Amino acid sequence: MKIGVIGSGAMGTGIAQVAAEAGHTVVVYDKYPKAIEKAAGNLTKVLYNLAAKGKRSIESVESLLGRIQFTTDFEDLGGAELAIEAVVEDLSVKKEVFSALEALLGPEAILATNTSSLSVTSIAASCEHSSRVLGIHFFNPAPLMQLVEIVPALQTAPECVEEAKKMITAWKKVPVIAKDTPGFIVNRVARPFYGEALRILEEGLADIATIDWAMKAIGGFRMGPFELMDYIGHDVNYTVTETVFREFFYDPRYKPSFSQKRLVDAGFLGRKSGRGFYDYGEKAVNPEPQKDENMGREIVWRIVCMLINEAADALYLNVASREDIDLAMTKGVNYPKGLLAWADEYGIQLCVNALDRLHGEYLEDRYRCSPLLRKMGRTGRRFYDRES
Ligand SMILES: NC(=O)c1ccc[n+]([C@@H]2O[C@H](COP(=O)([O-])OP(=O)(O)OC[C@H]3O[C@@H](n4cnc5c(N)ncnc54)[C@H](O)[C@@H]3O)[C@@H](O)[C@H]2O)c1
Repeated sequence: MKIGVIGSGAMGTGIAQVAAEAGHTVVVYDKYPKAIEKAAGNLTKVLYNLAAKGKRSIESVESLLGRIQFTTDFEDLGGAELAIEAVVEDLSVKKEVFSALEALLGPEAILATNTSSLSVTSIAASCEHSSRVLGIHFFNPAPLMQLVEIVPALQTAPECVEEAKKMITAWKKVPVIAKDTPGFIVNRVARPFYGEALRILEEGLADIATIDWAMKAIGGFRMGPFELMDYIGHDVNYTVTETVFREFFYDPRYKPSFSQKRLVDAGFLGRKSGRGFYDYGEKAVNPEPQKDENMGREIVWRIVCMLINEAADALYLNVASREDIDLAMTKGVNYPKGLLAWADEYGIQLCVNALDRLHGEYLEDRYRCSPLLRKMGRTGRRFYDRES
């Protein structure tokens, strides 16, 4: 099968590698010769480095690269049965790409977008045969991250979703189905991991090192929120928060933080710029955590309850199934447990009480409890039956 990838940035190159790894012939197209040159060079270097470290054979590298064609000629995408678009996150650019793709590939091909934050439905609206358009959202780096969110547009035909799901499974990835709502599953449900940590910091309840320590040592997360924001880059992370906030018609639950905005204003973007919440300079002295177990448990409890509330609300609003919400957070952002399973373990009524306490204290809509969580707490139900 021939797969077309449009856009040769970090995501496009990663997706091309995944598709070629699954045995497909892949054509990667970019409008800019410099970008395509860089992508081909980077992928070749990474793969040969893996071979040098003994992590894969030279033969497998050569055959993989032999299946990928890098091009700036749009016509080379002709004959692709599936095209995955990974160009810049700009609706008008994406719409243009989709109408050109439809004209080239005809009504039978599946046209997918890797957008993180735009409406798949509005991208599909640029096509005449919009029933073959959907979101196939990979995570960065695509060759390593297992999760793929499949996002049907309002116009997408169910059989197209099934085809995409089958294909992604065959590519050895874990597909979940997400409704076309802002942030899909992961970028919506994960917001409080950053937002509530920032709020605790801004209130002066704990410092960054203590919050990060608590979330790792007590919460079991692989990275603390501040380390992770520094790693992702504040420009990227802040933009996602801002977009989700705006797309949710300014729901206060997703309100961005000034502390993070100021880092972006200053150009302190995290690891990539040498400074974010932490200093990455050679002689940097970073703060030590206060390893106070009680305080740590409070921090984890508050942030995880907010995450559980977000997951429950996504289920309540039919963004995805219970299993897919939990899979998305464990496979997409490596959470130690699925949030709905975690709610069962904590006790749902206790989560409701924690949220109500916060709401009572701050009188902010940010802390409103999801109706589903409240109802389940009241009726003593669990997300998963004890025997399942
Ligand atoms: N970076 C991430 O962590 C991440 C994760 C998931 C999804 N995404 C989404 O994937 C998409 C690409 O992200 P990225 O990080 O790879 O971006 P990037 O900026 O690294 O790459 C975008 C590429 O698109 C090319 N391009 C721009 N306009 C084009 C056009 N009209 N035709 C063809 N190519 C064009 C650019 O030359 C560039 O090479 C975006 O929609 C983004 O939201 C990004």
